[in-house]
Amino acid sequence: MALLAFTSLLVITGLQLRVASGQNPWTAWTSSQSTSLGPVFTLPASADRGKNVLPNIHDAEAVDAQRVCPGYKASNVHTSGSGFTADLDLAGPACNVYGNDVEHLALSVEFQTDDRVHVEIRPRYISPENETWFLLPEVLVPRPRHNPQYDQSGCDLVVSWSNDPTFSFALRRRKTGEVVFSTEGKVLVYEDQFIEFVSELPENYNLYGLGELIHGLRLGNNLTRTLFAADVGDVIDANIYGSHPIYLDTRYYEVNDSGELTYVANATDTAAKYVSYTHGVFLRNAHAQEIRLRPSGITWRALGGSIDLYFYSGPKAADVTKAYQQTTVGLPAMQQYWTLGFHQCRWGYESWAALQEVVVNFERAGIPLETVWTDIDYMKQFRDFENDPVRYSYSEGAEFLAKLHANHQHFVPIVDSAIYAPNPENPGDAYPPYDRGVQANAFVMNPDGSIYYGAVWPGYTVFPDWVGAVLNGSGAIDWWIDEVSRWSKKVAFDGLWIDMSEVASFCVGSCGTGNLTLNPAHPPFELPGEPGNLVLQYPEGFERTNSTEAASASSALHSQEASATTTSSTSYYRTTPTPAARNVNWPPYVINNYHGDLAVHATSPNATHHGGYVEYDFHNLFGHMILNATYQALLKVHEGKRPFIIGRSTFAGSGKWAGHWGGDNQALWAYMYFSIPQALSFSIFGIPMFGVDTCGFGGNSDYELCSRWMQLSAFFPFYRNHNILGAIPQEPYVWSSVAEATRAAMHIRYSLLPYMYTLMAQASLDGSTVMRALAWEFPNEPWLADADRQFMLGSAVMVTPCLEQGATTVNGVFPGVGEGTIWYDWYTLTAVEDVKPGQNVTIDAPLGHIPLYLRGGNVVAIQEPGMTTAQSRQNPWGLIVALDKEGCATGSLYLDDGESLEPSAVTWVQFSAKTNSFSARPEGSDVDTNALENATVMGLREAPSRVRLNGDDLDPSYWSYSEDKALLVLRGLNQLFPHGAWATEWEVTWGH
Ligand SMILES: *[C@@H]1O[C@H](CO)[C@@H](O)[C@H](O)[C@H]1NC(C)=O
Ligand SMILES: *[C@@H]1O[C@H](CO)[C@@H](O)[C@H](O)[C@H]1NC(C)=O
Repeated sequence: MALLAFTSLLVITGLQLRVASGQNPWTAWTSSQSTSLGPVFTLPASADRGKNVLPNIHDAEAVDAQRVCPGYKASNVHTSGSGFTADLDLAGPACNVYGNDVEHLALSVEFQTDDRVHVEIRPRYISPENETWFLLPEVLVPRPRHNPQYDQSGCDLVVSWSNDPTFSFALRRRKTGEVVFSTEGKVLVYEDQFIEFVSELPENYNLYGLGELIHGLRLGNNLTRTLFAADVGDVIDANIYGSHPIYLDTRYYEVNDSGELTYVANATDTAAKYVSYTHGVFLRNAHAQEIRLRPSGITWRALGGSIDLYFYSGPKAADVTKAYQQTTVGLPAMQQYWTLGFHQCRWGYESWAALQEVVVNFERAGIPLETVWTDIDYMKQFRDFENDPVRYSYSEGAEFLAKLHANHQHFVPIVDSAIYAPNPENPGDAYPPYDRGVQANAFVMNPDGSIYYGAVWPGYTVFPDWVGAVLNGSGAIDWWIDEVSRWSKKVAFDGLWIDMSEVASFCVGSCGTGNLTLNPAHPPFELPGEPGNLVLQYPEGFERTNSTEAASASSALHSQEASATTTSSTSYYRTTPTPAARNVNWPPYVINNYHGDLAVHATSPNATHHGGYVEYDFHNLFGHMILNATYQALLKVHEGKRPFIIGRSTFAGSGKWAGHWGGDNQALWAYMYFSIPQALSFSIFGIPMFGVDTCGFGGNSDYELCSRWMQLSAFFPFYRNHNILGAIPQEPYVWSSVAEATRAAMHIRYSLLPYMYTLMAQASLDGSTVMRALAWEFPNEPWLADADRQFMLGSAVMVTPCLEQGATTVNGVFPGVGEGTIWYDWYTLTAVEDVKPGQNVTIDAPLGHIPLYLRGGNVVAIQEPGMTTAQSRQNPWGLIVALDKEGCATGSLYLDDGESLEPSAVTWVQFSAKTNSFSARPEGSDVDTNALENATVMGLREAPSRVRLNGDDLDPSYWSYSEDKALLVLRGLNQLFPHGAWATEWEVTWGH
């Protein structure tokens, strides 16, 4: 939930006039509280305006550091078995282009493992007072451990360096000789507020990652990525919530008959033989960054920190993402089983009664509902840890939640990052969480040591000081754990949703200083549904499906837009470096921040942490650290259970504690498509628990978009429908066609839950991905480099959604067919025939149908779906055996209690099928007593005359064979597995 000003960038159509002003929570609570509050003060819009800065990349007067800076010379080189070190000294007069040049640097190159090299360049002289300007504390973001005795001769990468004309370094892949990264011919720039290093990249290079962003999966050769956490509603290509300075670089080569490799920039010959090599590059730096991708290569800029680079040699994408997670940022948190059920949310569920109605409506519609969520509506005047006493009372909530839990359903509320600062002149406005936080030194300060007061939903607010807590021992984390614990005793929530964690503030600077007597206050913009901000947008193509409503919609929208004034200014605020000092509020290099001035809509860069650290050096970590604090809190609240947290702002490694949702997207077809590349990027980042606001957050949805989207999101790990305040309802039961499509897709999802859970377990054990790009699974097909309209769920399931309004077919590729991969249609259970490599096949996809394929070579365990995951887990099992061209298949299944942080019993079942048999081999002590009910073997071309279980002939009533479909189906097996499907090893054989 949240914000803001995306309208000008998007195609807008639509109308929604139903919102009476009394429906929004602001007026709802102010009217219910009006006796004590009086009129509400509204922050002026000007409170959130900063200086008019011009992003460097758009500035015609901008100086190119490459032209004016002297670079460095290396000396004092020391070589050891595992790498080398050197001194770097400025090679000429300082350029001081966007900061003060650091004259003396230290270089260290470490070969850390066979597939990882560390290159670090940092100032040679650092003191406690400037340490955090340059060095990212390891307690916040750890570095990979390594053995300093490692012998580099086994490393896939070799590193060279040169002083000609100034210092540069290059990494090559030993096997192919390809230059992975090289700063040759470019100068290194290292200043206190500006770092720049540049590498050429091959023609038409394929880079992925560098998030968080709304863009195709392949980043292309003309993109500027700004990494600065911001409360920005999913604007295409803008800096949004998270910062993930890692990319994958995939290079395709044509292989000739003698095995020689030739780089291919544009592969067109689908008959040729190709291979690819993928490496990864991670810059361990939390400062604001700007990464320019241009046809010639990459320019990496940072406004502080060090050059702390990790190169992962792959050579497969999966090798890189595994190594990145296993060694560097950490493996993703394992989730509880129930979190894979369906989640329903909206901004605008205004009472427990409203939630109850939603629960009942799902039940009536026969649509599984696992978890119901509340946005800020439940809060008393938008304050964390306090429910509205009338609409969301604790006593009524206790009853509601007891019933919900008895039905094995769950509840997740939102928690905001900022804490209300009560009005000191109004005793009725007392807010104990704030008082306790002040006592604990838990809040971010101004440079003079007074408390920093920004503004978020409730009015003027304070911000927890995570950095001070970790680096200086002040109290924010303990205080947060305590507040979450206290509140958990009043509201039996099952997980938490962390919002506004960039960290957002609706005004520039400490705007609440001296103004707390105005609290509570209204934000400096209209909430959705308030006059002037009616929700009037509809999905693209709405005018074709509902022309009357669309016409009045667009005219209302135009008049609303016309009344909004726009101002433009041509005089820009520029700064130049000050000798021996940093300008943290207005750094000389202006990043292309969506909000402009760094202090707009965020806490100010000079906000100060306990210990004297400035926000400038830690801005991108707030969201990461609140997830850590919340993880600790939930460990205390639900002892021994896996914390379930969905967070908005993330950093490299946040997956250790939380999942992520895609933020404030729009109910537009474009955003349904973008959900796929966004999810795949989060696979790279090690955050597999990902999903987006299904049917769209901003704007009104419609039945066609919502139907398609409910079906698509059914194959994302985190499956939630969420809607903005003031928009028309979009729960899947609202439209009958959507209800039907949803039931169909959920039936498949819930059948596949054991498979999805197994993928999540594997991810948490070794960093393998859950949602996968086709290119990662099929690395020898250059034409898949930008494929992001289809994806794999694990290695077995391919999803080919229809993403176009009005379409009834979708074009999709069937990767691997050139190498003999067989694809089976999920619905017909038969193999897809006559498809060529790279061919775009037109597939039927009428509304309500999502094309889905199983890849030959896989065994997938399924379970009869229930209305909740708890019910599903009591149901009989099934097996799908999809044979490859050799008649073989493998698979695995993970079983545990579904909730424990450290389960006392786990079982892994290994499946394997070969020419005339398939078998299950369980290992472990988790007990599941549900029987195996059926098994389906696809791609069996020869009719068997007998089928045996563990050597005993099965009565023909248990099985049937279809020659047409090459399909063997076993059914009604339940009584043959009296102790459960996975109690002991078993084998099914067939033959004559
Ligand atoms: C850090 O501060 C110390 C002490 O003032 C100074 O000697 C050193 O040069 C500073 N380092 C950098 C890179 O500015
Ligand atoms: C590169 O991107 C910019 C900004 O989006 C655009 O104006 C320009 O036309 C693009 N250049 C090329 C060669 O596509």
